[in-house]
Amino acid sequence: MSGQQHEVIFRFLAQPTDVNFGGKVHGGMAMKWIDQAGYACAVAWSGAYCVTVSVSGIQFVAPILIGDLVTVRARLIHTGTSSMHMSVDVLARDLRKGEQRLATSCVMVFVALDGADGRPTPVPHWEPRDDGERQLQEQARQLLELSKGMEKLVDVRAAVPD
Ligand SMILES: CC(C)(COP(=O)(O)OP(=O)(O)OC[C@H]1O[C@@H](n2cnc3c(N)ncnc32)[C@H](O)[C@@H]1OP(=O)(O)O)[C@@H](O)C(=O)NCCC(=O)NCCS
Repeated sequence: MSGQQHEVIFRFLAQPTDVNFGGKVHGGMAMKWIDQAGYACAVAWSGAYCVTVSVSGIQFVAPILIGDLVTVRARLIHTGTSSMHMSVDVLARDLRKGEQRLATSCVMVFVALDGADGRPTPVPHWEPRDDGERQLQEQARQLLELSKGMEKLVDVRAAVPD
């Protein structure tokens, strides 16, 4: 049911097929997991098909090693009319030592689309429940302002002839 589930968590082992040339998990693989978890959370909250419109502030804080237990946590931190802002963290745990570390983090924006015409459609409103969530919502609002500035830069770049 839409408007109920505000968090999605994936858990799995980092596989040998996820490796980069340096023997650790490929950054592109972490971005794929982030996109999938964010998408699942957006669809669960809105009850609609959703598309990614932005990824902000992505940080690769620590490497993920093959065999680590990976947790990808996407949680809603702000809703607009049709947009859903998600904080997505990737955590890695060395199962032999039991230590978990933050590997990657970002904020993503998804927009819910109407099934009939593919135009943005309203999503259920989300309210923060405590000071931690209020802080995350404030961060989402600040990133939205930065993102609007980025959109203008994209327009300028696109206008430059080949
Ligand atoms: C998503 C899309 C349909 C929005 O179309 P649009 O004409 O810009 O629609 P609107 O101007 O009404 O914006 C819709 C929402 O997106 C938000 N939005 C648009 N661009 C944004 C950006 N760069 N950063 C954050 N939010 C953004 C708007 O703030 C608005 O939110 P709100 O309804 O909560 O106020 C269109 O941009 C699109 O199709 N983008 C490509 C998506 C895609 O292919 N993603 C990759 C594969 S999933």
